[in-house]
Amino acid sequence: LPLLLLWGALGYLLGSIPFGMVVTKTFGLGNLREIGSGNIGTTNVLRTGSKAAAAATLILDGGKGAVAVLLARALAGDLAGEDAAQLAGLLAFVGHCFPVWLGFKGGKGVATFLGLMLALAWPVGIACCLTWLAMALLRRMSSLAALTAAVSAPLWCLLLGYQPVIFLAVALAAVILWRHKDNIARLRAGTEPKIGQK
Ligand code: G3P
Repeated sequence: LPLLLLWGALGYLLGSIPFGMVVTKTFGLGNLREIGSGNIGTTNVLRTGSKAAAAATLILDGGKGAVAVLLARALAGDLAGEDAAQLAGLLAFVGHCFPVWLGFKGGKGVATFLGLMLALAWPVGIACCLTWLAMALLRRMSSLAALTAAVSAPLWCLLLGYQPVIFLAVALAAVILWRHKDNIARLRAGTEPKIGQK
């Protein structure tokens, strides 16, 4: 158990790095909190107008979820490997949404969720990415694409034979829904901006 706590802590530390803010500052694009929705994720970084900064944020926020899973899996060994990987992934996601460095006011978790799923159960991760992409192409709204991908994740776990990951998928989908409550209100009101819109 103490070792599991270690993987959890490692995941949280990785996940809590707010790459969107770091990248935006590094690119000289200002303070992400004062741009668009004020969120720290890829969608909001894109509102700075820099596709490169948005791509870097997506890769880094997704990457930290994947790295947490892969590190825990590699270091925990055969016995606790998958439990450690799930815990590290979950805590990376929690770290992104509730980073201690930002007074626990973090992001919405979508990129980190996709990254950790790709590392944990890659067919499920790919299915979620494709779901996001299909919805984004259809409706051009990042939040709607994210919500569809998150809600579909448990279903993909079942269909693709990854039952052990299903509880995690349900938990992540629930948090993602909750973190998008403002977006959901805007979607219902028909005022949610399209991808790239300010
Ligand atoms: O995944 C985040 C995205 O779904 C919404 O971001 O900045 O439009 O609230 P934002």
